[in-house]
Amino acid sequence: MRSVAVIGRGAIGGVVIGALERGEVPGARLAAVVDLGDPLEDALAVADLVVECAGQAALAEHGPRVIAAGRDLLVVSIGALTDDALHERLRGGPGRLFLTSGAVGGLDLLRAAAAMAPLERVRIVTTKKPATLGVRDATGPVEVMRGPARQIAAAFPKSTNVAAAVALAVGSFDVVEAVVVADPAATLTSHVITASGPAGEYRFEIRNRPSAANPASSQVVPHAVLATLRDLAR
Ligand SMILES: NC(=O)c1ccc[n+]([C@@H]2O[C@H](COP(=O)([O-])OP(=O)(O)OC[C@H]3O[C@@H](n4cnc5c(N)ncnc54)[C@H](O)[C@@H]3O)[C@@H](O)[C@H]2O)c1
Repeated sequence: MRSVAVIGRGAIGGVVIGALERGEVPGARLAAVVDLGDPLEDALAVADLVVECAGQAALAEHGPRVIAAGRDLLVVSIGALTDDALHERLRGGPGRLFLTSGAVGGLDLLRAAAAMAPLERVRIVTTKKPATLGVRDATGPVEVMRGPARQIAAAFPKSTNVAAAVALAVGSFDVVEAVVVADPAATLTSHVITASGPAGEYRFEIRNRPSAANPASSQVVPHAVLATLRDLAR
């Protein structure tokens, strides 16, 4: 039985916590919840797997101690891994680092294509409601930012973890161009991922319903976390 601690009781963490409490992850039980102001050490004393659902700053704050304590760590705030030093610490063990697929898919195929031969062009275009990007008074689609995935993930820490997930899948933060669009008509949050290289040409279009609790996050994300938890607990 895996003993699970969840960091963050928000839109994503709340759903993960509820599912664990209801026994919906066979082989795993909820051991602790850590939110702002709660000591991590109490959770590390009772958990062997920690799920971060709290944001990039929280991952930077707690993640290295989780790994150093020999606890496994499942991460949703993947954009924090644009910080190479943090990424190295989290990969340094003895705990193991796992990433959720989160709001996007196709990462397995992109990983395989990039392993065959480096991809030459990868782009992810994310379109969301303006308010979730801090944009006011947009009357139509507005491109808010375009640049390397590393730069975009750092600039929009709550909205571009997906760009970092794609970059990690293809093995380069620099080959991936990320574009962020604010669109008042975007009732669904979309991510269009295109890639090409010697292995072929790829296009994935994802249209997620935003979470009512936090429209910057998509409803599907905690269910991606729970899918990984089910695999880890099997
Ligand atoms: N990988 C993906 O596809 C993906 C998609 C959406 C969101 N995310 C990431 O997930 C994060 C959480 O999303 P959410 O919608 O649940 O956010 P949220 O704002 O609804 O909830 C965040 C929770 O974390 C807590 N928290 C903040 N800082 C903390 C700290 N230092 N220690 C402990 N708890 C802390 C807050 O109090 C809150 O309860 C986002 O910030 C984003 O980085 C990733």
